[in-house]
Amino acid sequence: MKKVKKLVIGNWKQNPSTHTDASEIFKGIAKKAHTFTNVTTVVCPPFVFIDKLSAGYSGSSIYFGGQDVSFEKSGAHTGEISAAQLYSIGCDYVIIGHSERRAAGERDESVNKKIKIALEHKLTPVVCIGESERDSHGKYLSHLRNQIAKALKGVKEKDVLQVVIAYEPIWAIGKTGKDAITPQKLHETSLFIRRVLLETFSKKVGMSVTILYGGSVKPMNARELLEEGEVSGFLVGGASLDAGQFISILETAHNI
Ligand code: PGA
Repeated sequence: MKKVKKLVIGNWKQNPSTHTDASEIFKGIAKKAHTFTNVTTVVCPPFVFIDKLSAGYSGSSIYFGGQDVSFEKSGAHTGEISAAQLYSIGCDYVIIGHSERRAAGERDESVNKKIKIALEHKLTPVVCIGESERDSHGKYLSHLRNQIAKALKGVKEKDVLQVVIAYEPIWAIGKTGKDAITPQKLHETSLFIRRVLLETFSKKVGMSVTILYGGSVKPMNARELLEEGEVSGFLVGGASLDAGQFISILETAHNI
């Protein structure tokens, strides 16, 4: 059976502190990434490091992504980075609506605008959704449904097919491998997300949109989450800053 290509994205967040360190981590990943041909590897460094890293990279197996994007095309928006600017420095992906950005004030409405502008500029939006806690009544499911509906409001079906959904339960982010979601719960949630996409758009969308998991993905849990979790890859935070750990996750994804 032909293996489906996995997608593994490293989100470096506000790390590391210097370009020298960023370059070290990147080199460590680049040394091996080309051998994992069953995986699409993406790194999302802080904006300030992307240009130099991408200009200095002669390989073709690592893609770059931004960690956020402005919903405005250009103009007087101090501190913002546009989709065109990201594309011009070698980005193909952009993370949108990460829970840390939502905690800093990001709203569903701006997530929606950012997805549209990213798509217009040929960037693949990696749209983060996730509940802060799980209740026994399933309220978190309505929360996820709501986030998906608001994020993708007005996005055409053919464009939704380009979107990547990263399911990142907030309670599992930034912890140890033992605190990640269980493969069983991930499986159920992934199927739920597919059902919402199917009901909102079409069977094709429900079946083919790429769904990733994020939240304390480490070398120790990557295999079971991928084998049993019904996802196509990961959005990795902490472990993506350690080239050895990130490579180990890429290798696991490559071999499944
Ligand atoms: P984590 O971060 O892997 O450190 O939990 C994931 C994320 O926030 O994208």
